[in-house]
Amino acid sequence: MLNVEQSTLSDKLITHTDSPDQTRAWGARLGARLQIGDFVALCGPLGAGKTCFAQGLGQGLGITSPITSPTFIIIRQHPGPVPLCHADAYRIASTEELEDAGLIDYFRDWVVALEWAERVPEIWPEELYIIQLSFDNDGRRLELSAQGQGPTQVIRELSDAHSGT
Ligand SMILES: Nc1ncnc2c1ncn2[C@@H]1O[C@H](COP(=O)(O)OP(=O)(O)OP(=O)(O)O)[C@@H](O)[C@H]1O
Ligand SMILES: [Mg+2]
Repeated sequence: MLNVEQSTLSDKLITHTDSPDQTRAWGARLGARLQIGDFVALCGPLGAGKTCFAQGLGQGLGITSPITSPTFIIIRQHPGPVPLCHADAYRIASTEELEDAGLIDYFRDWVVALEWAERVPEIWPEELYIIQLSFDNDGRRLELSAQGQGPTQVIRELSDAHSGT
């Protein structure tokens, strides 16, 4: 049974995961609903589960190549039925550095998932998914929200599907 602890607002989904697999499963649920051009801001402290959630996104998108942390490479491409650009702003000193690395070139034709996205809010598109992960006892707290009509609708659908309404 899915562990949705609370879902007070239908356009924000707050849940708890007890294991990396559960975090991946939430990523996969969102990934299955993503489209080319979508942007996912993965936010949260060191080891919160951002890469784990991105692995789930990849599963949901139908990506078969292994998804590992892009911290040192900055941008990693995962071609697939819906291609994923998995990026990481941890080592980035400025938004310009991320732009120089070419991240914006992926915005139109890929799904972009950016770890440590909270470090570079200037680069966020107007419409996006915001995934906030944090430590919660032995597991993780996940907060899924969105900006923009399309992404907000997807979060509502996910929220409704898993709160039994
Ligand atoms: N409920 C959980 N969800 C996700 N990861 C978990 C959970 N419980 C334990 N873990 C462990 O926490 C670690 C999360 O690592 P992960 O690389 O996904 O985090 P991260 O946020 O990407 O870290 P970094 O800030 O270094 O990029 C893994 O070792 C994973 O096994
Ligand atoms: Mg990571």
